[in-house]
Amino acid sequence: MMKVLDTKLCLVLSVLCSVHFLVQFSHGGEDTIHRSQFPEGFLFGTSTSSYQIEGAYLEDGKGLTNWDVFSHTPGKIKHNDNGDIADDHYHRYLEDIELMSSLGVNAYRFSISWARILPRGIYGGINAKGIMFYNKIIDNLLLRGIEPFVTMHHHDLPQELEERYGGWLSPLIKRDFVHFAKICFESFGDRVKYWTTINEPNLFTEMAYVRGTYPPGHCSPPFGNCSVGNSDAEPLIAMHNALLSHAMAVHLYRNHFQAKQGGTVGIIANTFMYEPLRDEECDRLAADRALAFIIAWVFDPLVFGDYPIEMRNILGSRLPRFSSNEKSLIKGSLDFIGMNHYSTLYVKDCSCSACSSACSPAGDHAIRGFLETTGFRDGIPIGDLTGMPRFFVVPRGMEKIVDYMKTRYPNMPLFITENGYSAPPKQDAALHDFLQDFDRMKFHKAYLAALLRAIRKGADVRGYFIWSLMDNFEWVDGYGTRFGLYYVKRQTLERIPKISVKWFSSFLNFSTLTLENDLSKQDLKEQI
Ligand code: NOJ
Repeated sequence: MMKVLDTKLCLVLSVLCSVHFLVQFSHGGEDTIHRSQFPEGFLFGTSTSSYQIEGAYLEDGKGLTNWDVFSHTPGKIKHNDNGDIADDHYHRYLEDIELMSSLGVNAYRFSISWARILPRGIYGGINAKGIMFYNKIIDNLLLRGIEPFVTMHHHDLPQELEERYGGWLSPLIKRDFVHFAKICFESFGDRVKYWTTINEPNLFTEMAYVRGTYPPGHCSPPFGNCSVGNSDAEPLIAMHNALLSHAMAVHLYRNHFQAKQGGTVGIIANTFMYEPLRDEECDRLAADRALAFIIAWVFDPLVFGDYPIEMRNILGSRLPRFSSNEKSLIKGSLDFIGMNHYSTLYVKDCSCSACSSACSPAGDHAIRGFLETTGFRDGIPIGDLTGMPRFFVVPRGMEKIVDYMKTRYPNMPLFITENGYSAPPKQDAALHDFLQDFDRMKFHKAYLAALLRAIRKGADVRGYFIWSLMDNFEWVDGYGTRFGLYYVKRQTLERIPKISVKWFSSFLNFSTLTLENDLSKQDLKEQI
């Protein structure tokens, strides 16, 4: 008798739960969002970068980049993958633009391969075929009402600049970058209204010069054991040169192009949110320091003219100084802020003896701001796991990081230039598993809802770009980590829409989401 009752109860409960889930997902859930709730003129787009999708690595006059060389070095990239072919976007750009057009986006963020335009940097001529390629992309986007949002440097650098003078470690990079930027403004600036100079200088300097996992692979103990490098000094030098390169390019744009072309220029940083690991003052201060050491490191100089005081206090004279001329050049050299946001981490203080027990040797380092970050508290992750070990699903972090940026940099327009999800690896996953990406869809709905809360509190956010249009070369992780709305079959390079394509295009194309246009009933049933 009891057993029969139990079974009936279970059945009733599971039906109730399914109905609740269905209602949550389609109509009334607190994460229900509509495009029309976002500000007038808001950009909704997808994001990619040249090395990660283009392929054609030695075609039509392109020069070698640091990533071509690095990915060809055995053991550097998972499964020794490389970007030689990538998604073959170089030949399939029209098909890809069609995909975006059918999605209904009004913007597309992509990057220009420096070595496709200037195969040898300043030491050689302009590659006309490279210019032609990006002209075709820009023209075809505009024909379909899609705004080009262009990044000039997204990790890939002409190898010649690395070999001649050490790339970002040398002040000579500034002259080279401005030369490249000038050609971009001259060639594309009549049609491009949104420029960003450099993608994630705070991430690539960490990977390239602290950990040594990006080219040129420099590091020193306790961060790693590379044959070359100084993890305490080089990231600071590379960032200094990157910030000045940015500012010089903006100066050029403002003096020679902006009045005529009417565009704007920003820079993009990697922006994690940070929360104290323990409910203690020293961890709260450490979380604030993490924001300063990782995010304000990029934006304080460009908005206020100098590095954050939190960094100067700890690093002293090891932190490079801007001359007074440089200060006036960099201060205010931003029309908008670009933020790549994926996740939130806990922060633990390593500076005061009462709190800092069991910090790793790296956490004990000044360059890190005497702090350590982790995704776990007492073994429990801060949010659902993803395909990236340090990315957890923490939607509240989106609201918090936008609040932080709004408070620290009042009046700066903000763009979320990347936000995306890759699923945790699954043994023997079949195509079906990749295409039924309900978790990606839930991720974007929750993060967009959090973004909306920040906008309603007054943040001037003007755009949101999903990383990424399609699965692509995920740097050291190669092709195994998939962030795309479209699945890319590696053997044929066919693009196959995942469920999240249906959701995103419904979101973009209908002002009110109902069960019918949010997702088909069938999709929801499959999920339940
Ligand atoms: C940020 C980088 O800009 C992009 O290149 C990368 O693929 C994504 N994060 C995901 O890790």
